[in-house]
Amino acid sequence: MSGTAGKEGLGEAAGSSTPPTLLPPTAPEETANARNKANHRTVWPYGNYRSYYSFRPAASSNTESAPPADSLDGRLAFLDRQLFAGKRLLDIGTNSGKIAFDALRHMGAASVVGVDIDPLLIEDAWRIAGELGFAKGDDRLNFFAANVMDEGWLEEFVASGTRRVDVITLFSITKWLHLHHGDAGMLRLFRSLHQVLPAGGVVIIEPQEWDNYKRAVKRNKDLRETFKAIKLRPPFEDEMREAGFELEQRIEREEGGFSRPLLVWQKVA
Ligand SMILES: C[S@@+](CC[C@H](N)C(=O)[O-])C[C@H]1O[C@@H](n2cnc3c(N)ncnc32)[C@H](O)[C@@H]1O
Repeated sequence: MSGTAGKEGLGEAAGSSTPPTLLPPTAPEETANARNKANHRTVWPYGNYRSYYSFRPAASSNTESAPPADSLDGRLAFLDRQLFAGKRLLDIGTNSGKIAFDALRHMGAASVVGVDIDPLLIEDAWRIAGELGFAKGDDRLNFFAANVMDEGWLEEFVASGTRRVDVITLFSITKWLHLHHGDAGMLRLFRSLHQVLPAGGVVIIEPQEWDNYKRAVKRNKDLRETFKAIKLRPPFEDEMREAGFELEQRIEREEGGFSRPLLVWQKVA
C-alpha cells in the first residue's frame, strides 16, 4: 500500500496550514519522522489539507511520488475529454485548484469556477494561477471561498450573473460534507445539484469509502454525533437516482490501497 495517496484516504495530511487544532511549531532539530508524527496529530476538519497535490498521484506518476506541477491529475486521466470540452465546470472543494487548472489546460473546458471552504486554499489557488500564467481577470477562471452546504448557496451562485454550469465535480469531498451535514445535508445537496444543472448536465463524484470515515471521526470529536446518526452510505447511488440523475459511467479505480471509483451522473431531462 502506498504511503502517499493513502494519507488523504486516512484523513491525514502532509502539509501545513492554520486549521483550528495545530501543534506547536516543529523545532528545527526535529527529524522528518517527528514532523510526520506531528502532522498526523493535526486536525483538518474539512479535509482542507495544504500541499494536497504533493501526495495525490498524477496520471503519469506511480503512487509513491509527488506529481510534477503540470502533469494531468490522476482522476481526470480516467475521464473522457468530451465530458469537459467546451463545458462550464464548477469544481466543488477545489483545494488549491489543481482540477480547475487541469480542466482548462488539458481537458478543453470553456471555463472553470473552483470553490473551497478554506480561504487560505483559495489564496493558494490564485497564487498558482499566476504562476501558471493565467492573467488576473481571465474570465475563464474564477475561485471563491464559500461553504457550498450553506442553504441556497448553489442555487444563488448559479442563478447570479453568467455563472451557468454544465459539469460539477465533487472529488474526495463527500466524506467531509456527509460528516458535517449528515444524511439530510447530502440529500439536499443532490437536489440542489439537480436544480442548478441544465438537462444533460453532468455531476462527477469521487466518493470516499465508508470505512474511510472512521479515522476522520476519531481525530475530530465534533463529528461524532453526526457520524452516529448517518444511515446513507457512499457512493449514494440510490439517492442520486432519486434526485433525478442517471448513472452514465462507473469507473473503478484504486489508489493507495483504497477504492476510488469515479461515478459520472447525468441529469435526465
Ligand atoms: C480532500 S480535499 C479534495 C480536493 C480536491 N477536490 C481533489 O480531490 O483534488 C477536500 C476539499 O474540500 C473542501 N471542502 C470541504 N467541505 C467544504 C464545503 N462545505 N464547501 C466547500 N469546500 C469544502 C476542503 O477545504 C478541501 O480542500
